[in-house]
Amino acid sequence: MFAEEKTMAKEINTIGVLTSGGDAPGMNAAIRAVVRKACANGKKVKGIYRGYQGLLEEDIKDLNRESVSDTLDKGGTILFTARCSEFRTEEGQRKGAEICRKHGIDGLVVIGGDGSFAGAQKLAALGINTVGVPGTIDLDIACTDYSIGFDTAVNTAMDAIDKVRDTSTSHERCSIIEVMGRDAGYIALWSGIANGAEDILIPEKYDYDEQKIINDIIRNRKLGKKHYIIINAEGIGHSTSMARRIEAATGMETRATILGYMQRGGNPTCRDRVYATMMGGLAVDLLCQGKTNRVVGYKNGEFMDFDIDEALAMKKEISPYMLSMAEDMSK
Ligand code: ADP
Ligand code: F6P
Repeated sequence: MFAEEKTMAKEINTIGVLTSGGDAPGMNAAIRAVVRKACANGKKVKGIYRGYQGLLEEDIKDLNRESVSDTLDKGGTILFTARCSEFRTEEGQRKGAEICRKHGIDGLVVIGGDGSFAGAQKLAALGINTVGVPGTIDLDIACTDYSIGFDTAVNTAMDAIDKVRDTSTSHERCSIIEVMGRDAGYIALWSGIANGAEDILIPEKYDYDEQKIINDIIRNRKLGKKHYIIINAEGIGHSTSMARRIEAATGMETRATILGYMQRGGNPTCRDRVYATMMGGLAVDLLCQGKTNRVVGYKNGEFMDFDIDEALAMKKEISPYMLSMAEDMSK
Protein backbone atom coordinates (compact mmCIF):
# COMPACT_ATOMS: atom_id res chain seq x y z
CA MET A 1 0.00 0.00 0.00
CA PHE A 2 1.25 3.48 -0.80
CA ALA A 3 1.84 5.94 2.04
CA GLU A 4 -0.73 8.38 0.58
CA GLU A 5 -3.39 5.66 0.60
CA LYS A 6 -2.71 4.86 4.26
CA THR A 7 -3.23 8.45 5.36
CA MET A 8 -6.03 9.27 2.90
CA ALA A 9 -8.98 10.51 4.99
CA LYS A 10 -11.91 8.08 5.05
CA GLU A 11 -14.95 8.90 7.12
CA ILE A 12 -15.52 6.39 9.85
CA ASN A 13 -19.03 5.61 11.08
CA THR A 14 -18.60 2.48 13.17
CA ILE A 15 -15.57 1.61 15.27
CA GLY A 16 -14.86 -1.98 16.28
CA VAL A 17 -12.69 -2.84 19.27
CA LEU A 18 -11.01 -6.10 20.23
CA THR A 19 -8.39 -7.37 22.67
CA SER A 20 -5.88 -9.98 21.49
CA GLY A 21 -2.91 -11.96 22.82
CA GLY A 22 -2.25 -12.12 26.57
CA ASP A 23 -4.65 -10.12 28.74
CA ALA A 24 -3.23 -7.20 30.71
CA PRO A 25 -4.62 -5.11 33.59
CA GLY A 26 -5.90 -1.85 32.13
CA MET A 27 -7.28 -3.41 28.95
CA ASN A 28 -10.79 -2.71 30.25
CA ALA A 29 -9.87 0.93 30.83
CA ALA A 30 -8.70 1.07 27.20
CA ILE A 31 -11.91 -0.57 25.91
CA ARG A 32 -13.96 1.88 27.97
CA ALA A 33 -11.98 4.80 26.57
CA VAL A 34 -12.52 3.58 23.00
CA VAL A 35 -16.26 3.19 23.55
CA ARG A 36 -16.78 6.50 25.33
CA LYS A 37 -14.54 8.56 23.04
CA ALA A 38 -16.22 7.06 19.99
CA CYS A 39 -19.65 7.90 21.46
CA ALA A 40 -18.43 11.41 22.27
CA ASN A 41 -17.30 11.73 18.63
CA GLY A 42 -20.73 10.59 17.43
CA LYS A 43 -19.67 7.12 16.21
CA LYS A 44 -21.25 3.71 16.70
CA VAL A 45 -19.17 1.06 18.49
CA LYS A 46 -19.05 -2.72 18.12
CA GLY A 47 -17.22 -5.01 20.52
CA ILE A 48 -15.52 -7.99 18.91
CA TYR A 49 -15.23 -10.79 21.47
CA ARG A 50 -12.23 -13.19 21.77
CA GLY A 51 -9.85 -11.27 19.52
CA TYR A 52 -9.37 -12.31 15.91
CA GLN A 53 -10.94 -15.70 16.69
CA GLY A 54 -14.18 -13.96 17.62
CA LEU A 55 -13.94 -11.77 14.52
CA LEU A 56 -13.80 -14.86 12.29
CA GLU A 57 -16.72 -16.36 14.22
CA GLU A 58 -18.68 -13.07 14.06
CA ASP A 59 -18.86 -12.84 17.84
CA ILE A 60 -19.72 -9.14 17.62
CA LYS A 61 -22.08 -7.01 19.70
CA ASP A 62 -23.08 -3.34 19.84
CA LEU A 63 -21.53 -1.40 22.71
CA ASN A 64 -22.66 1.87 24.23
CA ARG A 65 -21.51 4.08 27.10
CA GLU A 66 -23.34 1.89 29.65
CA SER A 67 -21.79 -1.33 28.32
CA VAL A 68 -18.49 -0.26 29.85
CA SER A 69 -19.80 1.01 33.19
CA ASP A 70 -17.95 -0.35 36.24
CA THR A 71 -15.08 -1.77 34.20
CA LEU A 72 -12.36 0.85 34.69
CA ASP A 73 -11.03 -0.78 37.85
CA LYS A 74 -11.31 -4.42 36.72
CA GLY A 75 -8.44 -6.64 35.57
CA GLY A 76 -8.67 -8.97 32.57
CA THR A 77 -10.70 -8.00 29.52
CA ILE A 78 -14.50 -7.86 29.27
CA LEU A 79 -14.13 -8.64 25.55
CA PHE A 80 -12.14 -11.80 26.35
CA THR A 81 -9.00 -12.58 24.38
CA ALA A 82 -7.63 -15.39 22.27
CA ARG A 83 -4.84 -16.50 20.01
CA CYS A 84 -6.04 -17.37 16.51
CA SER A 85 -3.89 -19.33 14.07
CA GLU A 86 -6.45 -19.02 11.23
CA PHE A 87 -5.97 -15.26 11.26
CA ARG A 88 -2.27 -15.69 10.47
CA THR A 89 -3.32 -16.96 7.02
CA GLU A 90 -4.19 -14.69 4.09
CA GLU A 91 -7.53 -16.45 3.77
CA GLY A 92 -8.32 -15.76 7.42
CA GLN A 93 -7.37 -12.12 7.08
CA ARG A 94 -9.57 -11.67 3.97
CA LYS A 95 -12.45 -13.33 5.81
CA GLY A 96 -11.85 -10.98 8.77
CA ALA A 97 -11.93 -7.89 6.54
CA GLU A 98 -15.16 -9.12 4.86
CA ILE A 99 -16.80 -9.68 8.26
CA CYS A 100 -15.80 -6.14 9.33
CA ARG A 101 -17.45 -4.78 6.16
CA LYS A 102 -20.54 -6.95 6.69
CA HIS A 103 -20.97 -5.48 10.20
CA GLY A 104 -20.29 -1.94 9.00
CA ILE A 105 -17.00 -1.76 10.93
CA ASP A 106 -14.88 0.70 8.99
CA GLY A 107 -12.44 1.50 11.80
CA LEU A 108 -10.91 -0.98 14.25
CA VAL A 109 -8.96 -0.56 17.48
CA VAL A 110 -6.76 -3.56 18.29
CA ILE A 111 -5.53 -3.73 21.88
CA GLY A 112 -2.63 -6.16 22.26
CA GLY A 113 1.03 -6.74 21.52
CA ASP A 114 3.21 -6.95 18.42
CA GLY A 115 1.48 -10.08 17.12
CA SER A 116 -1.91 -8.40 17.35
CA PHE A 117 -0.52 -5.34 15.55
CA ALA A 118 0.71 -7.59 12.72
CA GLY A 119 -2.92 -8.70 12.36
CA ALA A 120 -4.09 -5.06 12.35
CA GLN A 121 -1.51 -4.28 9.67
CA LYS A 122 -2.98 -7.02 7.47
CA LEU A 123 -6.53 -5.69 7.93
CA ALA A 124 -5.34 -2.16 7.10
CA ALA A 125 -3.90 -3.46 3.83
CA LEU A 126 -7.33 -4.95 3.10
CA GLY A 127 -9.06 -1.59 3.53
CA ILE A 128 -10.18 -1.65 7.17
CA ASN A 129 -8.78 1.38 8.98
CA THR A 130 -6.90 0.11 12.03
CA VAL A 131 -5.10 1.55 15.05
CA GLY A 132 -3.20 -0.56 17.60
CA VAL A 133 -3.05 0.16 21.33
CA PRO A 134 -0.14 -1.44 23.22
CA GLY A 135 -1.44 -3.84 25.85
CA THR A 136 1.02 -6.29 27.35
CA ILE A 137 2.57 -6.73 30.77
CA ASP A 138 5.89 -7.54 29.08
CA LEU A 139 6.74 -3.90 28.11
CA ASP A 140 8.43 -5.31 25.00
CA ILE A 141 6.84 -3.15 22.27
CA ALA A 142 9.64 -1.17 20.67
CA CYS A 143 7.80 1.97 19.56
CA THR A 144 6.54 2.84 23.03
CA ASP A 145 8.10 3.44 26.42
CA TYR A 146 4.91 2.12 28.02
CA SER A 147 2.47 -0.70 27.43
CA ILE A 148 -0.79 -1.14 29.33
CA GLY A 149 -0.50 -3.63 32.18
CA PHE A 150 3.19 -3.33 32.98
CA ASP A 151 2.80 -1.11 36.03
CA THR A 152 0.17 -3.33 37.64
CA ALA A 153 2.09 -6.53 36.86
CA VAL A 154 5.41 -5.29 38.15
CA ASN A 155 3.82 -3.95 41.34
CA THR A 156 2.07 -7.28 41.88
CA ALA A 157 5.42 -9.03 41.41
CA MET A 158 7.12 -6.58 43.77
CA ASP A 159 4.55 -7.12 46.53
CA ALA A 160 4.83 -10.91 46.18
CA ILE A 161 8.63 -10.82 46.21
CA ASP A 162 8.60 -8.65 49.37
CA LYS A 163 6.65 -11.44 51.06
CA VAL A 164 8.94 -14.21 49.83
CA ARG A 165 11.91 -12.15 50.96
CA ASP A 166 10.56 -12.03 54.55
CA THR A 167 10.43 -15.79 54.84
CA SER A 168 13.68 -16.19 52.93
CA THR A 169 15.46 -13.94 55.44
CA SER A 170 13.86 -15.64 58.44
CA HIS A 171 15.09 -19.03 57.28
CA GLU A 172 18.38 -17.70 55.88
CA ARG A 173 17.54 -19.24 52.54
CA CYS A 174 18.26 -18.54 48.92
CA SER A 175 15.07 -17.84 46.95
CA ILE A 176 14.65 -18.06 43.22
CA ILE A 177 11.54 -16.17 42.21
CA GLU A 178 10.33 -16.65 38.66
CA VAL A 179 8.45 -13.74 37.11
CA MET A 180 6.69 -13.52 33.74
CA GLY A 181 8.46 -12.62 30.52
CA ARG A 182 9.04 -15.31 27.93
CA ASP A 183 11.17 -13.14 25.69
CA ALA A 184 11.45 -9.96 27.72
CA GLY A 185 13.16 -9.23 31.02
CA TYR A 186 11.45 -5.96 31.97
CA ILE A 187 9.34 -7.35 34.83
CA ALA A 188 12.43 -9.20 36.13
CA LEU A 189 14.67 -6.14 35.90
CA TRP A 190 12.21 -3.71 37.46
CA SER A 191 11.12 -6.00 40.28
CA GLY A 192 14.74 -7.06 40.79
CA ILE A 193 15.75 -3.44 41.35
CA ALA A 194 12.64 -2.67 43.42
CA ASN A 195 13.16 -5.72 45.62
CA GLY A 196 16.93 -5.46 45.99
CA ALA A 197 17.61 -8.83 44.37
CA GLU A 198 21.13 -10.19 44.45
CA ASP A 199 20.79 -11.55 40.91
CA ILE A 200 18.45 -10.76 38.01
CA LEU A 201 18.37 -13.29 35.18
CA ILE A 202 16.79 -12.03 31.96
CA PRO A 203 16.46 -13.69 28.54
CA GLU A 204 18.15 -10.75 26.77
CA LYS A 205 21.38 -11.22 28.70
CA TYR A 206 21.71 -14.38 30.81
CA ASP A 207 24.88 -16.29 29.96
CA TYR A 208 23.90 -19.51 31.80
CA ASP A 209 26.98 -19.21 34.02
CA GLU A 210 25.47 -20.87 37.10
CA GLN A 211 28.90 -21.28 38.67
CA LYS A 212 29.17 -17.48 38.93
CA ILE A 213 25.87 -17.37 40.86
CA ILE A 214 27.08 -20.18 43.12
CA ASN A 215 30.36 -18.34 43.82
CA ASP A 216 28.45 -15.14 44.61
CA ILE A 217 26.14 -16.96 47.03
CA ILE A 218 29.13 -18.49 48.87
CA ARG A 219 30.86 -15.09 49.00
CA ASN A 220 27.71 -13.36 50.27
CA ARG A 221 27.22 -16.04 52.92
CA LYS A 222 30.76 -15.43 54.20
CA LEU A 223 29.98 -11.70 54.37
CA GLY A 224 27.06 -12.53 56.66
CA LYS A 225 24.12 -11.98 54.29
CA LYS A 226 20.99 -13.71 55.56
CA HIS A 227 19.29 -14.34 52.25
CA TYR A 228 20.00 -14.43 48.55
CA ILE A 229 17.25 -13.39 46.15
CA ILE A 230 17.43 -14.39 42.51
CA ILE A 231 14.78 -13.02 40.16
CA ASN A 232 14.52 -15.36 37.21
CA ALA A 233 12.53 -14.43 34.09
CA GLU A 234 10.13 -17.03 32.68
CA GLY A 235 12.15 -17.10 29.44
CA ILE A 236 15.04 -18.72 31.34
CA GLY A 237 12.74 -20.81 33.53
CA HIS A 238 13.73 -24.11 35.17
CA SER A 239 13.68 -22.39 38.56
CA THR A 240 12.99 -25.59 40.51
CA SER A 241 15.90 -27.55 39.05
CA MET A 242 18.12 -24.48 39.36
CA ALA A 243 17.22 -24.34 43.06
CA ARG A 244 18.19 -27.98 43.54
CA ARG A 245 21.57 -27.46 41.87
CA ILE A 246 22.32 -24.28 43.81
CA GLU A 247 21.43 -25.91 47.12
CA ALA A 248 23.66 -28.90 46.35
CA ALA A 249 26.58 -26.67 45.36
CA THR A 250 26.33 -24.05 48.12
CA GLY A 251 24.80 -25.92 51.05
CA MET A 252 22.35 -23.01 51.40
CA GLU A 253 18.71 -24.08 51.52
CA THR A 254 17.20 -22.90 48.25
CA ARG A 255 13.54 -22.64 47.25
CA ALA A 256 11.88 -21.73 43.99
CA THR A 257 8.65 -19.72 43.76
CA ILE A 258 6.95 -19.30 40.41
CA LEU A 259 4.62 -16.30 40.53
CA GLY A 260 2.83 -17.12 37.26
CA TYR A 261 -0.49 -15.70 36.14
CA MET A 262 -1.15 -13.75 39.34
CA GLN A 263 1.00 -11.09 37.64
CA ARG A 264 -1.43 -10.76 34.75
CA GLY A 265 -4.57 -10.29 36.82
CA GLY A 266 -5.81 -7.81 39.39
CA ASN A 267 -7.09 -4.27 39.50
CA PRO A 268 -5.05 -1.91 37.33
CA THR A 269 -2.93 0.73 39.03
CA CYS A 270 -3.63 4.43 38.56
CA ARG A 271 -0.91 4.61 35.90
CA ASP A 272 -2.43 1.77 33.88
CA ARG A 273 -5.92 3.28 34.06
CA VAL A 274 -4.77 6.73 32.98
CA TYR A 275 -2.42 5.57 30.19
CA ALA A 276 -5.04 3.12 28.92
CA THR A 277 -7.65 5.88 28.85
CA MET A 278 -5.34 8.25 27.00
CA MET A 279 -4.21 5.62 24.49
CA GLY A 280 -7.70 4.22 23.83
CA GLY A 281 -9.10 7.71 23.34
CA LEU A 282 -6.22 8.73 21.07
CA ALA A 283 -6.77 5.62 18.92
CA VAL A 284 -10.37 6.73 18.32
CA ASP A 285 -9.34 10.29 17.47
CA LEU A 286 -6.84 8.94 14.92
CA LEU A 287 -9.52 6.81 13.28
CA CYS A 288 -11.88 9.79 13.23
CA GLN A 289 -9.15 11.77 11.45
CA GLY A 290 -9.18 9.07 8.76
CA LYS A 291 -5.85 7.56 9.81
CA THR A 292 -5.06 3.88 9.42
CA ASN A 293 -2.21 1.41 9.95
CA ARG A 294 -1.15 3.31 13.07
CA VAL A 295 -0.17 2.28 16.57
CA VAL A 296 -0.34 4.61 19.54
CA GLY A 297 2.50 4.89 22.01
CA TYR A 298 4.00 6.91 24.81
CA LYS A 299 7.43 8.28 24.01
CA ASN A 300 9.54 10.95 25.71
CA GLY A 301 6.66 12.03 27.94
CA GLU A 302 4.02 12.30 25.22
CA PHE A 303 1.25 10.19 23.71
CA MET A 304 1.83 9.82 19.99
CA ASP A 305 1.28 7.50 17.04
CA PHE A 306 3.49 5.59 14.62
CA ASP A 307 3.07 3.77 11.35
CA ILE A 308 2.54 0.07 12.18
CA ASP A 309 5.12 -1.06 9.59
CA GLU A 310 7.72 1.21 11.16
CA ALA A 311 6.68 0.29 14.69
CA LEU A 312 7.03 -3.45 13.98
CA ALA A 313 10.45 -2.91 12.40
CA MET A 314 11.79 -1.15 15.52
CA LYS A 315 13.95 -3.07 18.00
CA LYS A 316 13.79 -2.57 21.74
CA GLU A 317 16.94 -2.93 23.80
CA ILE A 318 16.86 -3.26 27.54
CA SER A 319 18.86 -0.34 29.00
CA PRO A 320 22.48 -1.42 29.65
CA TYR A 321 22.76 1.46 32.13
CA MET A 322 19.77 0.18 34.10
CA LEU A 323 21.26 -3.32 34.07
CA SER A 324 24.64 -2.13 35.31
CA MET A 325 22.91 -0.04 38.00
CA ALA A 326 21.08 -3.17 39.18
CA GLU A 327 24.40 -5.05 39.35
CA ASP A 328 26.07 -2.27 41.33
CA MET A 329 23.24 -2.34 43.87
CA SER A 330 23.80 -6.02 44.63
CA LYS A 331 27.58 -6.26 44.83
P1 ADP B 1 0.56 -10.37 21.24
O1 ADP B 1 -0.42 -9.52 20.49
O2 ADP B 1 0.45 -10.19 22.71
O3 ADP B 1 1.96 -10.20 20.70
P2 ADP B 1 0.38 -12.94 19.87
O4 ADP B 1 1.73 -12.83 19.28
O5 ADP B 1 -0.04 -14.24 20.46
O6 ADP B 1 0.13 -11.88 21.04
O7 ADP B 1 -0.66 -12.51 18.74
C1 ADP B 1 -2.04 -12.48 19.00
C2 ADP B 1 -2.79 -12.87 17.76
O8 ADP B 1 -2.54 -11.94 16.70
C3 ADP B 1 -2.42 -14.21 17.15
O9 ADP B 1 -3.05 -15.31 17.76
C4 ADP B 1 -2.90 -14.06 15.72
O10 ADP B 1 -4.28 -14.28 15.62
C5 ADP B 1 -2.61 -12.61 15.45
N1 ADP B 1 -1.32 -12.50 14.77
C6 ADP B 1 -0.09 -12.65 15.27
N2 ADP B 1 0.86 -12.52 14.32
C7 ADP B 1 0.21 -12.30 13.17
C8 ADP B 1 0.61 -12.10 11.80
N3 ADP B 1 1.89 -12.09 11.46
N4 ADP B 1 -0.35 -11.90 10.87
C9 ADP B 1 -1.65 -11.89 11.21
N5 ADP B 1 -2.09 -12.07 12.48
C10 ADP B 1 -1.20 -12.29 13.44
O1 F6P C 1 1.32 -11.49 28.70
C1 F6P C 1 2.66 -11.72 28.41
C2 F6P C 1 3.05 -13.09 28.83
O2 F6P C 1 2.78 -13.17 30.18
C3 F6P C 1 4.46 -13.53 28.58
O3 F6P C 1 5.38 -13.08 29.51
C4 F6P C 1 4.32 -15.01 28.59
O4 F6P C 1 5.34 -15.66 27.98
C5 F6P C 1 3.03 -15.20 27.87
O5 F6P C 1 2.26 -14.05 28.16
C6 F6P C 1 2.36 -16.44 28.25
O6 F6P C 1 1.00 -16.38 27.95
P1 F6P C 1 0.08 -17.66 27.84
O7 F6P C 1 0.52 -18.57 28.91
O8 F6P C 1 -1.29 -17.13 28.00
O9 F6P C 1 0.33 -18.23 26.49
